[in-house]
Amino acid sequence: MGNRLQRVLVLFSTVSGCTESIARRIGADLIAYGVRPTVASVAECPELIQGQYDAVIMGSGVRIGRWHKDAREWVQRNKAALSTLPRAFFAVGLHGVKSDGRMEESVAREDLKRVMATVGIESTVEPAFLSGWKRQDGFSGMERMALRVYPLADGDYRDWDAVDAWVKDIAPSLVKQATATAPGAVASTVTPLAPRRETKAAAACMRQRTRAPRTVDRGGRVAAYDGMFSFEECRA
Ligand SMILES: Cc1cc2nc3c(=O)[nH]c(=O)nc-3n(C[C@H](O)[C@H](O)[C@H](O)COP(=O)(O)O)c2cc1C
Repeated sequence: MGNRLQRVLVLFSTVSGCTESIARRIGADLIAYGVRPTVASVAECPELIQGQYDAVIMGSGVRIGRWHKDAREWVQRNKAALSTLPRAFFAVGLHGVKSDGRMEESVAREDLKRVMATVGIESTVEPAFLSGWKRQDGFSGMERMALRVYPLADGDYRDWDAVDAWVKDIAPSLVKQATATAPGAVASTVTPLAPRRETKAAAACMRQRTRAPRTVDRGGRVAAYDGMFSFEECRA
């Protein structure tokens, strides 16, 4: 059976734009795997429609050890549909980030476990804790106070190598899971993969920039995809 990982929703929740930038990078990285990504904000994204996507990659900035509320609520509302899909979760934060942007592995691992426990459904591939930025703008006075717990100077700690490496790591598993759960395949639900293994980079590097088709959901809404990376929903 061929690669069934083609329509991937990369969903993000952000306050300051940091997680959005990482989601866009993930979307761009996926193109090398023959994927047609739709990168969308939780705030704009309607509910999942069965059969609309082959996989979902979802991430949120971390606030007080959890994904943002809108991300957690979206998962709750879409849990049934999500449970049938390969899914990869990531969190963006500052806990355990070193001054060079790299993560303190042991801190990141523990933190990720705690954050993922609040999501409400497990990632079917190894999730990631990715470095964000420490900025005062865009945050309230109270939030700026909370940011002081991180012993870092204000700055951009995003680690693009880590983002790219994560995509490279998870893509083959997502391909495998999407292929196994495609219509006609035997398995109908996706169970989380057990412990992290080193994965080989996917061989196929096909560049594909096809527009996704317009689809109409049950409520008569039109899900219009304007190109590769943005998603907007409008009334028909
Ligand atoms: C009020 C507040 C609470 C935060 N709590 C955490 C936290 O618990 N763990 C963490 O790793 N980062 C935490 N951060 C850091 C943010 O996750 C980081 O700045 C990230 O880049 C924000 O991305 P976003 O704007 O896309 O959500 C916090 C930041 C703020 C402002």
